Amino acid sequence: MEQTLVLIKPDAVQRSLCGEITSRLERRGLRLVAAKFMWVSQELAETHYTIHKGKPFYDGLIKYITSSPVMAMVWEGPDGVAAVRQTMGATRPTEAAPGSIRHDFALDVGRNLTHASDTPENGKKEVELWFSPDEIVSWDRDTDRWIFEG
Ligand code: RTP
Ligand code: MG
Repeated sequence: MEQTLVLIKPDAVQRSLCGEITSRLERRGLRLVAAKFMWVSQELAETHYTIHKGKPFYDGLIKYITSSPVMAMVWEGPDGVAAVRQTMGATRPTEAAPGSIRHDFALDVGRNLTHASDTPENGKKEVELWFSPDEIVSWDRDTDRWIFEG
């Protein structure tokens, strides 16, 4: 079972898309194991996006992610990282597959609604950065055996 960090970014929160985005992940069959609604501190933003430091869009990205509350969540499932990124769609909304969240609700790469970890290793790192162990809820869902084969 793979875990991934999902952020519903400030634009999606302001546009009242939290329910829509969460609903799509739920319907896909992914299992929610942590969630919190929060302001992102400057420090957390800089640590989270440290890989983008120095890029032309970095300052705008930090401003964007700290501009309004976000909903941070951990979702899990088999091949969970790839599944969630597919549901989000490509980084640039105009390159995102029809039916994906970014295709269906976004236009601009700088307002692309969500974040999702890009590899299982980064998933683990990002979950540890955003959540303490006691915030992760380990549970069995009654429908698990109809969604997960193993
Ligand atoms: P994310 O990390 O948010 O899930 O998105 P991603 O992997 O698809 O994209 P990444 O390359 O990690 O970029 C992180 C976020 O930076 C903003 N961005 N702006 N103006 C630009 O050219 C540009 N490129 C990236 C986006 O908000 C992107 O999600
Ligand atoms: Mg990324």
